[in-house]
Amino acid sequence: FLAALSLSVNAAAPTPTHAEPKNLDWSSFGFSLNNLKTPYMYLDQITGSSSHATFDGSGGGSGSLKSGWHNTKNPPLARTLITPHKAIELEPSSTILNYGQGLFEGIKAFRRPNNEIVIFRPSKNAERCRRGCARILIPPIPDATFVEACSEVVRYNAEFVPPTGKGALYLRPIVFGSAPKLGVAPSDEYTFCVWCSPVGNYFKTESNATGTLLSSVSPITLLVSRGYTRSCIGGVGGVKAVGNYAPVFKCQSETKEKGFNEALFVDAKEGQWIEEAGASNFFVYIPHGDRPGGTLVTPPLNNGTILAGVTRDSILTLARAELPDITVEERPINLNELGKATEAFCCGTGASITPVGDIHVPSTETEGEETIYNFWKGERRAGDVTEKLYKMLHDIMWGEDKKLEKKYADWILVV
Ligand code: PLP
Ligand code: COI
Repeated sequence: FLAALSLSVNAAAPTPTHAEPKNLDWSSFGFSLNNLKTPYMYLDQITGSSSHATFDGSGGGSGSLKSGWHNTKNPPLARTLITPHKAIELEPSSTILNYGQGLFEGIKAFRRPNNEIVIFRPSKNAERCRRGCARILIPPIPDATFVEACSEVVRYNAEFVPPTGKGALYLRPIVFGSAPKLGVAPSDEYTFCVWCSPVGNYFKTESNATGTLLSSVSPITLLVSRGYTRSCIGGVGGVKAVGNYAPVFKCQSETKEKGFNEALFVDAKEGQWIEEAGASNFFVYIPHGDRPGGTLVTPPLNNGTILAGVTRDSILTLARAELPDITVEERPINLNELGKATEAFCCGTGASITPVGDIHVPSTETEGEETIYNFWKGERRAGDVTEKLYKMLHDIMWGEDKKLEKKYADWILVV
């Protein structure tokens, strides 16, 4: 496997460009592979036991390269570890296939109106990936290596970055144990790959977002999950472990069969406290009532059961700094509190900011009984606070607001 890999990284790759977008029907794209394969990916591997790794890959410090992701065993002859997109060969006994020792990330690259291509906060994903590596004993990828790999993938696949407002190039960094092993223990060899695909809207609702205004996005409906949990205290729900996702398939499939877009997960112990919605974080807005303004609330991360979303962090930062009438709280949200909220939304790299139309909460006591909370805004589709946050976030991504762009310049990496 190592020999095959070292050959492949030497494959000639063209000089990266900032090519114009390809002539494709971008508006028809959903959050899928859209029947196409991008031409290039990044591929690297290391050998060595993860027990020797220092789980500090924060970059900058001398500890950052100790994990060996600079590929000492097979130094690349090519300038980068970019290779044509291809299948990866794996031993059937590899730890990823048998024990699920793997993580993934999700990052978007956008094309701005001036054709500049930018990546949104990749260093936050690098940091989260490093924390995930520490949790499942994968040698951490130095942040600088992670970010550079993402940038290279975007440069080499530039013509697959959709036109402004027509979606994004979605990057999928994956890192996993690729050595053969039978004993239940970490791998002795790891593979790091970044592949990508252009994507449109995450949720299949009747209309798509095409600009920095959210008014064109249809709200989604959520059903609180009863009988299935996503995460528990002491588990891995707080990191992007590959094993977190398949256990949710059955719940999601049943939720969709019942006519909802997504499941809303609650805590595993009491089944009363909101955690997150499918693969996105969750917010509500509760007006003060007696005076202008209100409170934007999202569940806290301290239990380690909720993924620390980059979008979540961006929304919290923007709401605190840019919306003075709004109080921002990271605290547990009881299902009963939904009755006080006037807006609810899901957020994530894939999901962007998606307004929630209604939430159905099945009773835990009486079979067939449920409480319905409604957030529909009629023709306007989303509430004011959701709309403002969406606009600010996308203005920063697409460079549409010079003041915000300058203030949050470190969120944007121009490739
Ligand atoms: N929660 C889960 C379980 C996810 O998989 C994701 C997606 O990455 C999110 C939340 C949102 O995180 P982010 O905003 O970093 O994409
Ligand atoms: C993302 O939003 O980037 C995700 O990874 C969520 C999902 C597609 C798994």
